[in-house]
Parts: sequence; structure tokens; C-alpha cells
Amino acid sequence: MDNPLSGLTAQERKLWRQAATFLKDGRPWDLIHTETCLGYAFEIADGERWPESLRRLVIPAVMLHDIGWALIPAEKRKGRAYSQEDSRVDHMRVGAQKARDLMREAGYPEREAETVSLMVGEHDNPYIGKPFANPYTRRLREIDILWSLMPMSFWKKVESTGERPQQALEMVFRRLEAENVFSASGRKIARRLRDVLDEGILAKEEGRAASEEMFA
Ligand SMILES: [Fe+2]
Ligand SMILES: [Fe+2]
Repeated sequence: MDNPLSGLTAQERKLWRQAATFLKDGRPWDLIHTETCLGYAFEIADGERWPESLRRLVIPAVMLHDIGWALIPAEKRKGRAYSQEDSRVDHMRVGAQKARDLMREAGYPEREAETVSLMVGEHDNPYIGKPFANPYTRRLREIDILWSLMPMSFWKKVESTGERPQQALEMVFRRLEAENVFSASGRKIARRLRDVLDEGILAKEEGRAASEEMFA
């Protein structure tokens, strides 16, 4: 799907307008991260033939899962601070409260507002070594972690850690597989993203070899 937002229902669009106002104020990539995740969500929903009842929960959960970053003190998301445990816990907790309010305002039934709030409130639990309380959260998690295979996310990590790209890619891929949340469609997207990164790494290495040869 070219523009993931075109697949939203009228009610989801209403929710999205609210979510986007928060995502713009969060970490610099929160809006593009969430839009990209919506694209993966629709692809997985199609591939896995999600029932309507599942889609009604996961699409809003994807939209709202990271709104909490805009709602916690700025120093908790600045630079690499977002990867600290207390920042992760805070953005989930605060995001879950706001997600419940926005779901209610958009006219979702109370039960759905509660479930989505729960999903938002535990979506990063694997980072803090906690299991998911709600089985639906795995569907959100599968979509969220694909982002680490997007060039924007991957190269930022490589630059900040100084790791060798090929080894970093293998490590990221192993970490994602170890979470054990991929459906067949999710794994297909992961492999496609890995192929793109592989090509990028190869092109970079060829470029470096050529320049070393020229200036040797
Ligand atoms: Fe998050
Ligand atoms: Fe996320």
C-alpha cells in the first residue's frame, strides 16, 4: 500500500488526527515510525487474514503505542535517554492512559478502549524482561520491531555504536527472531527489509574499497 493512511476507516482517521498531534512532539522519528508501522500492519492484516475484531484493536494500538513519548519530560527522550528503562516504562504508562482517553473520544466501546490501552501499556515489555499480559500485544509488537530493520533506524544504531554493519544486521535479526512474535507475513517483511539493508551494506563496502584503491 502506497499510503497506509488511505486504508483507515473514518473512525480510525479521527483517532489518527489526535495521535499525530502527539507523535509530532515526541522523538524526532515517532511520526514516520508510526506511519511506517501502519503500512506493515495493513500488509500483515491482509497476509494473515485478520478478522475484523483483531484489526479493530491492532490498528488503533499501532497508532497510539508511542504517543507517550510526547507526554513525558523532554529529558527522558533526548539523545539516547529513550533507551533507558525508566523512560521506556514511563512512555508506556503515560501513553496507555492517554490512549484510553483518545479511544473513548473517538467513540470506541469501553472494552476496546481498555484493551488498546493495555496493549500500549505493555508493548515494550520485552525490553524490560516482562511477559505480555494480553495476547493481542504480540500482534502490535511484531509490527513495532520491524522498524529496527528500516534503514533510518538501522544506520542510526550502527553509527552510534560503531558496530560493523553486517554483524549489526545479523544481531538485530537474531534479536527480532528471538522475540518469537513473527507471523509468516511479518517474517516476509523482515526478510525483505534485511535484503534492502544487505544491498546498502554491500554498496557501502564496494564504495569504500573503490575509494581506498583510488587513493592508495
Ligand atoms: Fe514504544
Ligand atoms: Fe514503536
